[in-house]
Amino acid sequence: MSIVFFDSGMGGITVLREALTLLPGQEFLYYADTGHVPYGKRTAEEVRSLVIRAVETIVQRERPRALVVACNTATSVAIESLRKISPFPVIGMEPAVKPALEHEKVSGRRVLVLATPLTLSQEKYSDLVSRLDSEGQVDSLPLPGLVDLVEQEDFRMDKARAYLQEAFSSLKREDYGTIVLGCTHFPFFKKEIASFFSPYADVIDGNKGTVLQLIRRLGPSPRAEREAPGPVVFMSSGDVDKDRGKFFRLMERYQGSR
Ligand code: DGL
Repeated sequence: MSIVFFDSGMGGITVLREALTLLPGQEFLYYADTGHVPYGKRTAEEVRSLVIRAVETIVQRERPRALVVACNTATSVAIESLRKISPFPVIGMEPAVKPALEHEKVSGRRVLVLATPLTLSQEKYSDLVSRLDSEGQVDSLPLPGLVDLVEQEDFRMDKARAYLQEAFSSLKREDYGTIVLGCTHFPFFKKEIASFFSPYADVIDGNKGTVLQLIRRLGPSPRAEREAPGPVVFMSSGDVDKDRGKFFRLMERYQGSR
């Protein structure tokens, strides 16, 4: 049985990477819904039914040992429905607002959450912020363009920088102490985001926290299936041969960028 990672496209790689480090020797299957990426510009109803359809496809192949929804957008609209229909542990993601606010409690500096338009428009997100942000320190900004750049494997950094420059143009960067990457595609551009806010802010994501949660849900000392990390099985809803090539190239790029 594999631990399954699911994302709209290639963003979940940034979470899978943590799992390969923290859970060596386990079997992993990665499913990318590349036939329908990006999710962030769709409606909640559309994404919910796409996620359920994708998980049904995965389950037809094999029953997951656990399912990691390595996508903040899919989690925000579909996690409750998924938990209802899944007889295995389902681990979701949410923007790391809590650690960010804990970090900025004393400094009183602002927190900026970057995510997809759909994640930021959901009640799940506004509830999270209103529950935690008693001092009104949190701002949010959608960055859907970064998802497209990752999916197109377009890492011309002048292009990413120009996009970010424009998106951040109304912000006073010295106001911010922590930047939260609330979309799993964004860590591919962590350095570019960090350099914009440098030397004022730290950039964080919820990837390691998600994998630690997975480990808790798997229970004590999950049995290693083999000594070394095995090849990750890749599936997608798009052109699977093309997507597989892209997946392994992006795995390597992300590993090299850290
Ligand atoms: N990687 C996804 C997330 O964490 C969604 C990107 C998209 O499909 O728009 O939100």
